[in-house]
Amino acid sequence: MTDYNKDQLISEAKEARKFAQAKYSHFPVGAALLSADGQIFTGCNVESSSYSLTICAERVALTKALSEGSTQFKAIAISARDGQYCPPCGACRQLLYDYAPDLEVILSNGTQSKTYLLKDLLPHAFEDSQLG
Ligand code: THU
Repeated sequence: MTDYNKDQLISEAKEARKFAQAKYSHFPVGAALLSADGQIFTGCNVESSSYSLTICAERVALTKALSEGSTQFKAIAISARDGQYCPPCGACRQLLYDYAPDLEVILSNGTQSKTYLLKDLLPHAFEDSQLG
């Protein structure tokens, strides 16, 4: 049972997309991460001329939250081009899983949304318990 406002989270992700620095890919992405205490941390993708240094919107949102002391999360909404869902990349799935394995992942295509559990998007994940 969802106890948060999914539409609001999607709308914040869409707003965050406006700040995307995506001059190489021309693929702006926005994300909005909801903490357990109700705060929303937004992020957009930030690209580099050295392409591999690019940071995805989801990881920007997560690192903003963690660096401000927020460590428990409920859901993340992701917004990219209208009409298109943007599933998180593998690197983002891993980093999100490290901090929030029970996270709900909401994909918005502008008019509709699909919700997944992060653990279903990253089956058999590597996790810190394996470090011993
Ligand atoms: N990107 C994200 O920000 N999030 C995703 O879930 C997938 C990809 C970004 C990275 C890059 O700036 C652009 O989209 C194209 O890959």
